[in-house]
Amino acid sequence: MNPLNHVAIIMDGNGRWGMKYKNSRNAGHKAGLNTVEKIIKETIKNKIKYLTLFAFSTENWKRPKKEIDYLFNLLENFLLNRIEDLHKKKIKLKILGSKKFSPKLNKLLNNSEKKTSKNSKLQINLALNYGSKSELINAFKKIKKNKKAITEKNIDINLQTKKIPDPDLLIRTGKTKRLSNFLLWQLAYAEIFFEKKLWPSFNEKDYNRIIKEYKKIKRNFGKI
Ligand code: IPE
Ligand code: IPE
Ligand code: MG
Repeated sequence: MNPLNHVAIIMDGNGRWGMKYKNSRNAGHKAGLNTVEKIIKETIKNKIKYLTLFAFSTENWKRPKKEIDYLFNLLENFLLNRIEDLHKKKIKLKILGSKKFSPKLNKLLNNSEKKTSKNSKLQINLALNYGSKSELINAFKKIKKNKKAITEKNIDINLQTKKIPDPDLLIRTGKTKRLSNFLLWQLAYAEIFFEKKLWPSFNEKDYNRIIKEYKKIKRNFGKI
């Protein structure tokens, strides 16, 4: 049975779910938040130590302002309402991506990270305004600035995911089979599951089914 230490998820399909059932993309984002809560609970139950959630990509700025505003408002309210409970559950929150949001949201994100920084039951990495290519470029720039060699280790420790083990399992909901600029370096050896269901319809049962399948896979890492 494969150990499972880190699950990464591309939470895709909110907009389509919202249009199908409520005639509103934003309703899909709201419903997607319920799935986030369910999956956090289930991740703890499964004793998984790291959960990385792709919530907003550097490319998502190309969306209509109304949708972007709605998403960040949702996030702000989520943190305001839930951070205390996440802290009680010993969850550590880390933001991946550059925090270039409103001063209010930046502060809330910083405070949430600070407040939960000593927790160790589960680390949730929330990828927000995250793009893997720009993360890699920044890592190379830092290596160059410090006059270090380009090695695998030096790249690892200059990424935002330094100290976080690479994901063992990547799940992308919402039918499409692509990485959309998510953790390109870190996913080198991840087991990848593309799930047809849209994110708001994804549930504990689906998650546990994938975990069960993952555990049975023969992971070679180049060996035989
Ligand atoms: C994923 O759902 C959430 C974000 C990118 C913020 P989408 O909003 O991409 O949903 P679809 O793919 O349009 O259905
Ligand atoms: C990927 O979904 C980003 C997130 C889930 C946050 P997108 O819906 O933005 O991806 P593309 O544009 O379809 O590749
Ligand atoms: Mg999408």
